[in-house]
Amino acid sequence: MMKNTAPIGIFDSGIGGLTVVKKLLSFLPNESIIYFGDTARVPYGSKSDDTVIDYTRQDINFLISKNVKLIVAACNTASSVALDKLRKSYKIPIIGMIEPGAESALKRTKNGRIGVIGTYATVSKKAYSKEIHRRNREIEVFEKACPLFVPLAEEGWLKHKATYLIAEEYLAELRELRIDTLILGCTHYPLLSEVIQEVIGQGVSLIDSGTASSSFVKNELDKLAQHSPHAAKSFHEYYVSDLPAKFKHVSEQFLGQPIENLQKIELDYIISLNQ
Ligand code: DGL
Repeated sequence: MMKNTAPIGIFDSGIGGLTVVKKLLSFLPNESIIYFGDTARVPYGSKSDDTVIDYTRQDINFLISKNVKLIVAACNTASSVALDKLRKSYKIPIIGMIEPGAESALKRTKNGRIGVIGTYATVSKKAYSKEIHRRNREIEVFEKACPLFVPLAEEGWLKHKATYLIAEEYLAELRELRIDTLILGCTHYPLLSEVIQEVIGQGVSLIDSGTASSSFVKNELDKLAQHSPHAAKSFHEYYVSDLPAKFKHVSEQFLGQPIENLQKIELDYIISLNQ
């Protein structure tokens, strides 16, 4: 069987994609990873489609310049706004967040009532509703934008009382709707999952993009026979377009391991890269 030791490329607007990295590291421990967090331009979720498409193209081009074998768009906003448009211009496989999340939620729900929380961009595209209804028209889907969760996660306020207050405000509506499954439709949100779980209620299953997409990544590598061999020494490199004081600390706390190879890349350089 063919093997490929090239790394997997993963990107997000900031720290959120690390929730996907964490799941991938435990699911595919032999794989090397190159992460790019566009911290200079976070958040993506309140920007226009054209801007998100431009940024996503640049993120992908940066990862391709690092010779990755597959790209994970660990950003629901980029996945719902830009991927359909961009995928056709690239040969490299690009895994988004929407299909895996929708598929997992459909497997999990028993009462057919699914909630989705995400950025303004993801919710306004109704990306999850469309994907779920493409698979099963009977399901009721309720979507709600929770944009303030993103800066709370970047700030590391994972269990802060302000986070509880904001979660109460955002989730009150969904709590009334008898959902039994809630898609965390933004990769930043699993950082706040303890608060979200407490506020929405223990009876609601949370679906996070990292768990959902890891098996999609594995299947794609299986299909292409591109897994890294067991004997290969894996490496993990992290790049950001700005280095906020808290990035390293919050990331290490969340990943539960030190981030050694963290480097700031100038935006001008990223913008200048063409496919
Ligand atoms: N983490 C991203 C997502 O999954 C984007 C959050 C943002 O930049 O607004 O949607």
